[in-house]
Amino acid sequence: MATELSHEQLSALAREYGTPLYVYHAERIREQYNNLLEAFRGADVRFFYAAKALTNINVLRYVNHIGCNVDCSSVNEARLALHAGFDPEKVLYTSNNVSFEEIEEAQSLGVHINIDSISNLRKFGRKFGHSYPVGIRLRPNIMAGGNLKISTGHADSKFGIPLENITEVLDVIRETNLFIRTLHIHTGSEIKDVEVFARGIEVLFEVAQQFPELEVIDLGGGFKVPYMPGEEGTDIPLLGKKVKEEFEQYEAKYGRKLQAWFEPGKYIVSECGYFITKVNVLKPAVNAVFAGVDTGLNHLIRPMFYNAYHQIENISNPTGAIQQYNVVGNICETDTFAENRPLPEIREGDFLVFRNAGAYCFEMSSHYNSRFKPAEVMVEDGTARLIRKRDELSDLLAGQVY
Ligand code: LLP
Repeated sequence: MATELSHEQLSALAREYGTPLYVYHAERIREQYNNLLEAFRGADVRFFYAAKALTNINVLRYVNHIGCNVDCSSVNEARLALHAGFDPEKVLYTSNNVSFEEIEEAQSLGVHINIDSISNLRKFGRKFGHSYPVGIRLRPNIMAGGNLKISTGHADSKFGIPLENITEVLDVIRETNLFIRTLHIHTGSEIKDVEVFARGIEVLFEVAQQFPELEVIDLGGGFKVPYMPGEEGTDIPLLGKKVKEEFEQYEAKYGRKLQAWFEPGKYIVSECGYFITKVNVLKPAVNAVFAGVDTGLNHLIRPMFYNAYHQIENISNPTGAIQQYNVVGNICETDTFAENRPLPEIREGDFLVFRNAGAYCFEMSSHYNSRFKPAEVMVEDGTARLIRKRDELSDLLAGQVY
């Protein structure tokens, strides 16, 4: 049974800190990381938490504290990771379509770097030659992931250097004496099928022999976690077994030991998060009732942006009679969280909780409609701690020149 916070705990937090409120359960982060370690036991593997999912400095510190590494998608995420206490050796920077200046900044921080364009690879080689090992992000031409917006490895994707450009990559390496330590792919998010990862390994192993100094195969993130009740995530024990086997076979065949890296975001933090909201108003809808909550697409955009499903619970009336609700936000746009969702009877003032609210939820929030961003709370060892204050008017004016 996975570690969870109870309805009573969540209601008490909502009363204490107000709503809307993000709550993160630290032990669940540890549990997810331990599941990975357990599943990959015996394999030469490192996990880098994809910080873009949730960058609160307290979460980063906790991830560092439990021994996990961190993957950053911008140089600022890398700076935050260092600020949180990560050793540069534990920080990976995998960016997309960035300026060479940003890559130089990452280099000056001493972190691992994956480069995703030939032009930046060439500039890096010309400037640093063999002195600073780097990784190359390739586009494996594999279609996978929960939806097209989060599919990143297919043949029409903006991410990575297309596999078919490998000859040009090799020319650049030869010309500039680059030290290529890592080959990287990230095929997409919410990949359930272990075979997709196996295909990724196959693609990288096929080209690996052309990189004599290669030490690492980085397979990115994308492990699926369940969002709907009864839904299944990626079979992590099977993946661990498969990766171990594939890498051992490679070693036996080529006499060369490679290390596997992964960059899970959702897997590490999605399920630790709860987003608590309060129902402001009820209104009639065509075949349901509108439950208008005290939040909107400004705080949780996944349902509107990706059609993502988030389980909703009425923690104020969990045993109420089931009725159909359209759970909608308070933004001046149609911000529907759920349509015709069967939920226990909702009364105005009830607390509704969105599950899987750890990854890409607060992190993708905005000040749209000049509403305050929610507070964030972390529960660790049974104790709740405020880790971000709810905004106030000065936060809306911050940075404005007037
Ligand atoms: N590595 C790289 C290079 C990535 O681009 C990503 C995610 C990850 C790792 C982590 O993927 P994960 O394990 O979290 O699936 N905002 C979207 C997801 C976008 C993912 C972007 N890249 C969502 O809310 O579904």
